[in-house]
Amino acid sequence: MEKSRIKLDFLVHDLKVPLAVIEAGIQALLQRRDKYGPLTEKQVKVLERALRNTIITKTLVNDALELGRSSEGVIYKTPFKLASIVQDTFLEIFDLRDQETAERIRECNSLQALKQVLSERGVFLAVEEQLWNESFLQDERKVKQILRNLLSNALKYRKKRVDIKIERGEKELNIFIKDDGEGIPSRYHKKIFECYFQMDMEENHCVRGHGVGLAGVLVLLEDMGGEMSLQSDEGKGATFSVKIPV
Ligand SMILES: Nc1ncnc2c1ncn2[C@@H]1O[C@H](COP(=O)(O)OP(=O)(O)OP(=O)(O)O)[C@@H](O)[C@H]1O
Ligand SMILES: [Mg+2]
Repeated sequence: MEKSRIKLDFLVHDLKVPLAVIEAGIQALLQRRDKYGPLTEKQVKVLERALRNTIITKTLVNDALELGRSSEGVIYKTPFKLASIVQDTFLEIFDLRDQETAERIRECNSLQALKQVLSERGVFLAVEEQLWNESFLQDERKVKQILRNLLSNALKYRKKRVDIKIERGEKELNIFIKDDGEGIPSRYHKKIFECYFQMDMEENHCVRGHGVGLAGVLVLLEDMGGEMSLQSDEGKGATFSVKIPV
């Protein structure tokens, strides 16, 4: 498949995240009035309409993903702090799964505090304090997109834990994202980076996506001059290693 087409698919694919947050927010207002306060009849109508339209947009996004179109990607490099990019990414991820944890992540103002909150959710972050507070020049949105997709996968496919380690190389950041899930048999190590590919899942494994995430991550990394590799054996979890030039 054409690279530019994967890129557009990847952008559309990532619309799923903010849309799901909007949907969850409206649902919460409608369904948890004990927590968020009473609503007038008119307010309920407005919220229900907003909810319906969010669901329609979600469907459109899924349709667009199915169709796919082409477009060119451009790299915008800006300085960013490792701390803010990682914290923001976790915030986005937990905003969807667990509001309370998301709220706690939002309030973290140190590496120690973030590590603590994450560890309570089975996510273990290993990074030097000095590196954490350093600034880097790279396309911030792309880096976030890469992290978000790999971390979402790790959280989706893990049994109990996810380990993320960040180290500095000579001219790059090395990020390792490891989970303790079912792993990926070596015959699929190439395949999973292809667009729309998903391994056959066991029946009790009800997590489904679009099989676009990894193909998109690979394209973004290639555009930035980065690399990605996978270490995994069936039944033994998976480690995705990425090299991001900075
Ligand atoms: N950490 C992991 N452990 C086990 N299998 C994985 C892992 N990450 C990816 N895979 C396999 O690779 C496939 C492709 O991953 P990819 O992220 O591209 O798609 P997805 O997560 O299924 O859907 P989405 O488009 O929502 O990201 C997955 O369907 C899964 O079979
Ligand atoms: Mg994915």
